Amino acid sequence: MAAESSPLADKLKSLSLTTPLPKYANCYPEANPVDIYRAHITSILTEVTGVDAAVIYPALQWTQTLEKGDLVLPIPALRVKGKKPDELAAEWLEKFPESPLIHKPSTAGTFLQFFFKVEKLAQILIPSILKQDKQFGQNPYLGLKDPTDESKGRKKILVEFSSPNIAKPFHAGHLRSTIIGGFLSNLYQAAGWDVVRINYLGDWGKQYGLLALGFEKYGNEEALSADPINHLFEIYVKISKDLAAEKEEIKKLEEAGKDASELKNEGVDEQARRYFKAMTENDTKAISQWARWREMSIKRYKETYARLNIHFDDYSGESQVKQEKMDETAIKLSEMKISEESEGAVIIDFTKHVPGKPGKSLERPIIRKKDGTALYLTRDISEMLQREEKYKFDQLIYVVASQQDLHLKQLFKIIELMGYKDLAKKVQHVNFGLVQGMSTRRGTVVFLDDILRDVGEKMHEVMQKNQAKYEQVQNPLATADILGISSVMVQDMSGKRRVSPLHYHGLFY
Ligand code: ARG
Repeated sequence: MAAESSPLADKLKSLSLTTPLPKYANCYPEANPVDIYRAHITSILTEVTGVDAAVIYPALQWTQTLEKGDLVLPIPALRVKGKKPDELAAEWLEKFPESPLIHKPSTAGTFLQFFFKVEKLAQILIPSILKQDKQFGQNPYLGLKDPTDESKGRKKILVEFSSPNIAKPFHAGHLRSTIIGGFLSNLYQAAGWDVVRINYLGDWGKQYGLLALGFEKYGNEEALSADPINHLFEIYVKISKDLAAEKEEIKKLEEAGKDASELKNEGVDEQARRYFKAMTENDTKAISQWARWREMSIKRYKETYARLNIHFDDYSGESQVKQEKMDETAIKLSEMKISEESEGAVIIDFTKHVPGKPGKSLERPIIRKKDGTALYLTRDISEMLQREEKYKFDQLIYVVASQQDLHLKQLFKIIELMGYKDLAKKVQHVNFGLVQGMSTRRGTVVFLDDILRDVGEKMHEVMQKNQAKYEQVQNPLATADILGISSVMVQDMSGKRRVSPLHYHGLFY
């Protein structure tokens, strides 16, 4: 901030302005030179209007368009009683002194418009941009716990985003989450927050028992090392088909009045259940095989995310939620009578805890199945508590498709009902609509790599349409690749977050 000896203070002195600048809340002249103007105008207006500076400063706003000025002040915001805005404006303009930084203000309706003197602006702005270099546009003060005292530390935000499921497609929802989450993380970082980027992988549940069976039957070490993400997915598709066929077979047998118990007790479904049970009981062999696939997949994900200039600080995931934490949570939920037994399972009946329509709309989710196993929601509850202990964060954002609105509402409400009121206030769901019918040229199943390759190829085609220009591009394939990736990002960010961006159709088939 503007101390007597800082380059900014020297600059202001040379412009014959008084230094140090008075301090106002949310005034960061070192990071944002426009705040010099807001501070300057505020000190003039305090003299001229007699209104408290603390009221004037925050009322000075950016304008929508530059012909409306560089800053604008809605006169009613100063809450001066007894006179109409135009009378006040006339009175103030009369008294308004010459300034080295701004022209005399003009009035427009109930607004005072301020125009900066361009030459002075350049003298302040350009050296500041050059000095800040890559930091320009960032405001590290915003993230300080106490903006006047750096030693009190920075606010911490966890942004959970992307969160694909291992051995399943990386679909449009994951892509949007990746882009929005990456963008939010960068914004908070530029505002000086400590940002922890979390990828909460779908890497746990009976389907990973199924995958293990599939690997025994269809797996191939070479194919796995070459392309773990696709190979695991192929296996998953094959074994899921076997499972579907088995279900069909059981149905047929039962309809024919025949005994299906062998298939039921020894079939794919039951074996997968047992395998997963072994995983939950820390069976060394099962766990080490699964951990290896997880590692291999993460390694590949990292490479792809790097192409988008995105990284994660923590690869968490459903598997990382500790059993003890879930047991502890289950006891608490039951003791507090939030959860209850229903037909052998444990559920939460929100109508009993939240009156009226809101309670009804939260429904009656299951949190523990009959066989004692936990679910997606159960894991999310304990994961949030684990994050709170591990990171002691000030805010936590979940970037997840609006298809999961209900899930996150349930989660947040459960945390609140459990008495974690402060925690419940710190969590937020940033949702978004889904891209409809996104598919690539090679079919409807998409992985991030396929999407990026397809947009790159499409760009390359477009570039080739103009041969003369194309020949001037030094490395057309690499250029097309970067353009493709950028276009995916830009298209996503230019659409409304909550609406499904149909404009994807321009890029995908
Ligand atoms: N893996 C999930 C899916 O693909 C998304 C995870 C969202 N995050 C959460 N904390 N539940 O649907």
